[in-house]
Amino acid sequence: MLFAVPRCPAERGGLAAGGIALVLALVPPFVKKYEGLRIFKHLRSVCGARSRLPQPEYAPATPECPQPELRSMLDSQTTEVEVLGFLKTLVTTIKPRLVVETGTFLGHGTVRLAEGVRANGFGRVVTVEFDPAIYARAQERFQALGLEQWIESRLESSLETTIEGTIDLLYSDSHLANREEEIRTLAGCS
Ligand SMILES: C[S@@+](CC[C@H](N)C(=O)[O-])C[C@H]1O[C@@H](n2cnc3c(N)ncnc32)[C@H](O)[C@@H]1O
Repeated sequence: MLFAVPRCPAERGGLAAGGIALVLALVPPFVKKYEGLRIFKHLRSVCGARSRLPQPEYAPATPECPQPELRSMLDSQTTEVEVLGFLKTLVTTIKPRLVVETGTFLGHGTVRLAEGVRANGFGRVVTVEFDPAIYARAQERFQALGLEQWIESRLESSLETTIEGTIDLLYSDSHLANREEEIRTLAGCS
């Protein structure tokens, strides 16, 4: 086995700096990259995304959701399958005129909200996504499903978007860290 041992402090400092530089270069792509982008990269097409099989939710248990494994998910970012069904039912039940969703991702939640609006025969869904590649993929889904007339899709941050009119239903589903601020902003109480 071969060990490289620094002989003097300056050499040790140089090696340490080199080591830090190496870690900074190697770690970000694997650890820091937003998980949604990794999922997105592995999807070849909209159809590929739709054909994925649900698996049990593996998010850690919380007081609000003590048994996440009872629900199922397509991936760690998309709204859980059971919640997707609930979103459509919510819209057909409360009859909102204006629905706002933050965090479009692949558009699964948007689609179910828009299906509810279409079933009602009135209203619209404004969905906001700040990642251009993810936004573009979601547009493909909306077009493929013929739902564009019910959806206004925006490429911008939920923290900067301006919504005209009264929001009847807000589905706050962007990054967890943004949600309190976006709810305050969109509810007009910041
Ligand atoms: C949990 S996923 C959304 C899942 C989606 N609503 C669904 O039903 O499957 C979060 C998404 O929010 C986006 N996002 C995070 N922060 C955002 C912000 N401040 N404004 C807009 N989009 C944001 C991310 O790029 C990601 O696509």
